[in-house]
This record gives sequence, structure tokens and C-alpha cells, in this order.
Amino acid sequence: MPESTHDVSQLTALILAAGKGTRMKSALPKVLHRIAGEPLIGHVLATVERLGISRTVAIVGHGAEQVRAALSEAVQTVEQREQLGTAHAVLQAESALAGFTGEVVILSGDVPLLSPETLLAMLDTHRKAGAALTALTFKPQDPSRYGRIVRDAAGHLSRIVEYKDATEAEREIGEVNAGVYLADWPQLLAALKGIGNDNAQGEYYLPDAVTALNAKGLVVAAYATDDEIEVAGVNTRLELVALGEAYQERAARQWLEAGVTIESPRTTWIGPRVSLGEDTVVESGVQLYGRTRVGSGCRIGAHSQLIDAVLGDDVTILQSYLSESAVGDGTIVGPFAHLRNGAEIGTNCRIGNFVEVKGSVFGDGAKASHLAYIGDASVGAKANIGAGTITCNYDGERKHRTTIGEGSFVGSNNTLVAPVTIGAGAYTAAGSTITQDVPDGALAFGRARQAVKLGWAMQRKGIKQ
Ligand code: UD1
Ligand code: MG
Repeated sequence: MPESTHDVSQLTALILAAGKGTRMKSALPKVLHRIAGEPLIGHVLATVERLGISRTVAIVGHGAEQVRAALSEAVQTVEQREQLGTAHAVLQAESALAGFTGEVVILSGDVPLLSPETLLAMLDTHRKAGAALTALTFKPQDPSRYGRIVRDAAGHLSRIVEYKDATEAEREIGEVNAGVYLADWPQLLAALKGIGNDNAQGEYYLPDAVTALNAKGLVVAAYATDDEIEVAGVNTRLELVALGEAYQERAARQWLEAGVTIESPRTTWIGPRVSLGEDTVVESGVQLYGRTRVGSGCRIGAHSQLIDAVLGDDVTILQSYLSESAVGDGTIVGPFAHLRNGAEIGTNCRIGNFVEVKGSVFGDGAKASHLAYIGDASVGAKANIGAGTITCNYDGERKHRTTIGEGSFVGSNNTLVAPVTIGAGAYTAAGSTITQDVPDGALAFGRARQAVKLGWAMQRKGIKQ
């Protein structure tokens, strides 16, 4: 047994996610429906990651390909082709875990809000009891159709009876099975192999392992939580929204306690993998999703959406959309800017209104303050890009790069036809179409000369002068 009751190095997570989710009435597998931008199963995985568990096996079935595609490569998947019950689902992991002699934590892909703290407390109980299996239990306001926890006279967990198989008396039991377990893998596996499906649903029930392990004289434990929200599962879209709101409140509270101002918790969504630094202010209607990381002292302006964005300290984002992009300290973005596909903005830059930056690097202090599209470009430090400038990075077949030198000045309304380089300290005249490289320190004009016809208007109208 590991020395500390909190040591998770020998723990493998098994996530049950093969079920159909009929009541969602959806073509999308249930575990891929989202709360705060993260699929339900992503919430479970975020908890597993936060615990420091390094090995995870997901049992997939309905929509297996879709679910697989949504999981990171670090998660091993095993397909359960026919859903014959929860015991059958766990048995599918046998070959994936061949030779594994540690413990497993069994979770459901549709129970998103279980906290690492509850799992650690459960692990503590499990190890101190020297248990072969520990089940998580709770006492819901309405025990409805959950499996009932049957304890013996001494209070030990003796078996779990499914609602459909329970007697009237057993249905009166208020303590129920949350469907989360810790177990010694070899002992659980041996027990599951002896389980039959002679029950009301004709399924192989995982909770029957309790009976089997007890019969072998092994210790079976129960850990009770009083937090119903943590063990609540999603079965309908109504429940998805209700749990989403509960999640939202908890996430906001967590960040408020960590020194982040969430101005309007009810309108703000912060995903489970997001991090925020102290004294950052998140205004109303903001969505922070994926692996977004925000430094300290930032302002995330109202209605901004950040997906997998990384912000330094003291960054200001005003009503903008950022995905897979990074922004350095002190930079101001927006309002109405769009950063995407690997945009990397340095420190103290300015990305202004109606500026789209795609796959481009901005050196420190560079500016594109208004109305521009900068795609596949390298912009040197302190370069200034005038309003209305566009990189023509696509020739209809391939993408090409634009290089804009350090300290250069690109005039307003330029069309930069890539591949092209503007040298360091160079200038381009307003309205230029730049098709050839501009050397360092040069001035380039790329536009027709203006002609002026004096008196032309009067002549046209036949007025003599
Ligand atoms: C299960 C428990 C019940 C408990 C409840 C808590 C059993 C038999 N009963 O009931 O005691 O109170 O959870 O929510 O385990 N799954 C598979 N493959 C299958 C069957 C299920 O992967 O063949 C997955 C489902 O997708 C789901 C999880 O296992 O994520 C639980 O299955 P579900 O059908 O929801 O079990 P319940 O009837 O809710
Ligand atoms: Mg269920």
C-alpha cells in the first residue's frame, strides 16, 4: 500500500462513458455535451488531472469515435460494443490494465462536478479501512431510482440493491449509491468475473461486486458525501443546464476567493482548466474556455470570449474573441478584435478595433490599431501598421508569409502581397500595394500618382470661367 493515504501514483482512473444518453434526445454522445465550454467527460478528466492521476482509461461505446476524437491522447480508450451493464463495462478494461496491481477509481463520464477533495477524502477512508472496494454514497432529497445502500447491524456496507430489484422496505432506504468507487484492481476484477445478470434489468451490475467481495471476507467500505451536486449526473438537457448553473456558481466562488473579481458571476463562464491571476477583473458576459491562462492584474472586458488563450499580466481585453493565441504583459486588445490560430502578441502592443490576427507574431510594442487583417506575418518590435492594412497571405492555393521589420511604418490601407518583406525602419506610403521587398530604412510607394485636372467640374457643367 502507498505510504501516504493521498498518494495517487498507483491509481488508475476508469471512466464509464459508453451509455447512450437517450433522454438527451441528441445525435451527440451525452458525455460530449458541454458545461462552460468543456465536454462533461472533460470535467471528469480535469478532476482526474488535478488529482495528479497519470493513467486514465475511458470505456466508450455509443458514439465511440466522436468521444475518442474529443479526448486527449493521454487517455486510453476501450470500446464496449454492447452495453450489458456497468460490471461488463469495467471488465472491458481487463486487457488494457493487464498486469496492473494497483487501485482504480471508477467514475462516470456524465457526473461532471465531483471534486478532487471528495475523492481524496474517499481515498483516505478506503486506505485506512484496508478496503478492497469503497463506494461513494449520499442521501439525496429524493432517492428516486438510485441503487440503495444496505448496511448491516454494525453499519458496514453489505450490499447495494438496484431500485428495480429492491423490496418496498429497501426502497425506503435514504442512502444511495453515487456510482463512484475505489477498488483494488485484481480483487475487483476477480469479483466482477463471478457476477451474473439474473436481475430485473438483465444487466451485469457493478454494485454486485460489493456482495461478492463481502462473501470473500474482504473489507468493503462506504464513504458518504453530503454534497448532492457533486454526485449528480446529467440525463436530460434540463439537468445539463441546472448543473451548469451550479458549476458556474462554484467556479465563480473559487475565483473570487482566489483574489479575482468576477463582476457578474451569473453571466460569466470559466472552464475547469482555466487559470486566473490575482487582481484580474472579469466583466459581465465573459466566457473563458479550454486551457485559457490569464495573468494577474488583467481586465477581461464585457462579452469577451477566450478559448485556449494565454495572457500575461496587466493585459486589457475589450470585447474580443481570442482562440489559441497568446498576449504579452501590458498589451491592449480590442474592442472587437479577433486573435486566432497561434497569434502571439508581445508586451505593450496595441491590437485595436476590428483587427484580425491569425498565425502571426507581434514583437514588443508593435501596433495595429484599427481595421486590419494580419495573417501569417512576423511583425517586428515597435512596428506600426496603419488602419485598413491587409496581408494577402493566400494565393488561392497556398499561404505565404509577410515579414514586417522592427520599427517600420506601414501606411494606412496597404495591401501587402505575400511573400513579401518590409525592412527594419522602412516606410510604406498610404494606399500602397506592396508586391516587392522593401529594404531597411527605405520608403516605398505602390500606388498610382494622383492627377488633378483644374476646373474640370466647371467645364463639365458648361460654366465658363
Ligand atoms: C448506476 C448504479 C446505481 C447508482 C447510479 C448512480 C449500476 C447497476 N447501478 O445506475 O446503483 O445509484 O449508477 O448514478 O451500476 N455504462 C456503460 N456501459 C454499460 C452501462 C453503463 O459505460 O453497459 C455507463 C453509463 O454511460 C454511465 C454509467 O455507466 O456513465 C452508469 O450507468 P447508468 O446506466 O447511468 O446506471 P444507473 O442505472 O444510473
Ligand atoms: Mg445513470
